[in-house]
Amino acid sequence: MTFVLAHLSDPHIGPLPKPRVRDLVGKRLTGYLNWQRRDKIHDMDVLSRLVDDMQAHRPDHVMMTGDVMNIGLPAEFPAAARWLRTLGEPHGVSFVPGNHDAYVRSSLQHLIQTFAPWTSSDGEHETSWPYLRVRGEVALIGLTSGVPTGPFLASGRLGKDQRDRFAALLDETRARGLMRVVMIHHPPYRLGATPGRGLSDVRAFEKLIARHGAELVVHGHNHRTQVFHLPAAGTTVPVVGVASASAVPGTPRHRAAYHLYRITAKGKGKWSIDGHVRGLLPGTREIGDLGPVPFKV
Ligand SMILES: [Fe+2]
Repeated sequence: MTFVLAHLSDPHIGPLPKPRVRDLVGKRLTGYLNWQRRDKIHDMDVLSRLVDDMQAHRPDHVMMTGDVMNIGLPAEFPAAARWLRTLGEPHGVSFVPGNHDAYVRSSLQHLIQTFAPWTSSDGEHETSWPYLRVRGEVALIGLTSGVPTGPFLASGRLGKDQRDRFAALLDETRARGLMRVVMIHHPPYRLGATPGRGLSDVRAFEKLIARHGAELVVHGHNHRTQVFHLPAAGTTVPVVGVASASAVPGTPRHRAAYHLYRITAKGKGKWSIDGHVRGLLPGTREIGDLGPVPFKV
């Protein structure tokens, strides 16, 4: 049986609700000024076409790896939740937050409450990190790397507690014979991001994967399709980044796209993963096939 997984990220939903003056202090002020530029990059009509195309493929599960919002204004949270509902029932949609969703310290409480339907483990109603959702033979593990940072920084962090629970989940789900798919916003390898934009405990993550393994890791943040392979006990784990789901300008790898994976069990804890990039066809506003996810063979 084939399980179809869709992965999209970084839609940066707009337009921004009008901020109150008192909301525009510190990091939000620089972020608001930055948004004037960003607003022209992210096209909500293209995003809606992309989601329609994804739904037409009837994915068994949708993974959304963060930056659904922009500067963490209180009014952005309900808008983000409304948009997440357009992807499907929360049972079929998993979300992990990005740096723009955990923008300032006051965002964290909103984040935990607003996104609980998409960030809770099976049988629970509250956000937990990491969370585990099992669908068929697939274990979806969601991590949060979204932490508030100072102005001009976009880094992330997992923290030791979350990493320890993550390691235990990887072992538990492997023992159950499940295919382990890990979702995280920041690219979780050392070369994955420029200084100030990366995961601060990235070395610990790499070591953890080397020891406990995983079958697939997906991330956002860089707004482009990119594949890296992390070593793990005699094999490698594909780590795949996706373009922003709403970006219109830029090079072909940066323009609006999502990834569609077809996963087939091969027995004895092995799976085949067929990945395809679907997004803006060159020179058009149509969504179509842009070729396979470039896994190393
Ligand atoms: Fe990001």
